[in-house]
Amino acid sequence: MSTVLILNGPNLGRLGSREPDVYGSGTLDDLKARLEAETSGLTIDLRQTDDEATLIGWLHEAVDSKYPVILNPAAFTHYSYALSDAAKLVTAAGLILIEVHLSNPHAREEFRHTSVISAVATGTIAGLGFDSYSLALAFVRSRLG
Ligand code: DQA
Repeated sequence: MSTVLILNGPNLGRLGSREPDVYGSGTLDDLKARLEAETSGLTIDLRQTDDEATLIGWLHEAVDSKYPVILNPAAFTHYSYALSDAAKLVTAAGLILIEVHLSNPHAREEFRHTSVISAVATGTIAGLGFDSYSLALAFVRSRLG
């Protein structure tokens, strides 16, 4: 069964209690359960870290293992050129990398309007809560056949 990595950056381990008016009241465990219920024929490997180096290492693993990636880079979205370079390795290897956001960063503070990930991603889905992930996963599944 094909594996898809669903990678989440800093502070997303706090979903459920972190700014629920912005991010909703569901936790990462809720998200994982929902994605597993929606998906058959794919192994969902959902991870979260607050550490940039760990996230970069997981993108290297995606390249080496040929895993498609759904990535919520969280605040790293806006300034991590190291993460951008690692994301580029994924798409340059011909693998799908979808950037997702729960909120719509363009409707928020100005510093969130810049993404250093979008230009190297296959595509970006933002502002739809957990549906951002569901739609990204549906795309990955359709592309994997
Ligand atoms: C986020 C948006 C980012 O601006 C923010 O730093 C996050 C979460 C989102 O999913 O809406 O941590 O990526």
